[in-house]
Amino acid sequence: MTMSTVFLNGDFLPEEQASISPLDRGFIFGDGVYEVIPVYNGHLFRLDEHLQRLSNSLSSVHITAPYNNDEWPQLLNKLATQNGGGNLSLYLQITRGIAQRDHAFPHDTRPTVFAMCNALHPVSEVIQHDGVKAITLDDTRWKNCHIKSISLLPNILLRQQALDNGAAEAILVRDNNVTEGAASNLFIVSDGTLITPPKGSKLLPGITRDLILELALNNNIPMRETEISMAALTAADEIWLSSSTKEIIPVTQLNETPVGNGKPGALWTNMIKLYQQYKQDYNSQEQED
Ligand code: PDD
Repeated sequence: MTMSTVFLNGDFLPEEQASISPLDRGFIFGDGVYEVIPVYNGHLFRLDEHLQRLSNSLSSVHITAPYNNDEWPQLLNKLATQNGGGNLSLYLQITRGIAQRDHAFPHDTRPTVFAMCNALHPVSEVIQHDGVKAITLDDTRWKNCHIKSISLLPNILLRQQALDNGAAEAILVRDNNVTEGAASNLFIVSDGTLITPPKGSKLLPGITRDLILELALNNNIPMRETEISMAALTAADEIWLSSSTKEIIPVTQLNETPVGNGKPGALWTNMIKLYQQYKQDYNSQEQED
């Protein structure tokens, strides 16, 4: 393993030297929030949007933001640079801090801030060519799925159940509607229209999701934000999953049935091109700034 630099409570240090107290409420309670920000060619992608979501998550759980919107970009850019730039996945976690174990919020506790970079591998040729299998599972999570909470036990169990069934992702069902994946947002294509469920407490407001809608709008691709029933999912011509680390992945098998003709669909092929083009343009714009 190459030695990586991490950020912990104000310090940049080798990962091996970073340590936190076992009393940290992140460890004891999963009491914290996080972000995953892709870095392309050394540039943090859609950073403002990620920081806005972070700010929403922090205020939802009543943690005071430890840095402001001038400080975050400096700090995170420095971490990416210290990890060699290039293509990275930057993970940022903030917990309520260290305190004696008590469910009640502690007084005068400083939040713990941790960030690290991992290699960001491009989605494999096989997946781009063949797509993946997904299975539908009952959404066993809580009712605040818009908060990017580090308490991910339900998501982990659901993802593992999908993997154990030979699938790449679990598509979650709540009240007979599908909401999102265990770690991704969900799109379907139905009669040429791109559809994704509306934002709200049932799903994470994905940064990739918003970008896909923006690209659809700017390229005259019909789209709608509306609930997706199990029946609509099953009848869909295309199904996609989106996330910062996997971009847009075509689902070509749902449970035991092929989606459409069992190959990535035409609109996915179009959208992934628009997405890659946007990434390139975004980087060259940043360089001009
Ligand atoms: N997960 N929904 C859930 C439940 C997620 O965990 C994620 C991302 C998304 C997609 O959001 P975005 O486009 O902003 O990455 C949707 C990250 C990548 C993770 O936990 O590693």
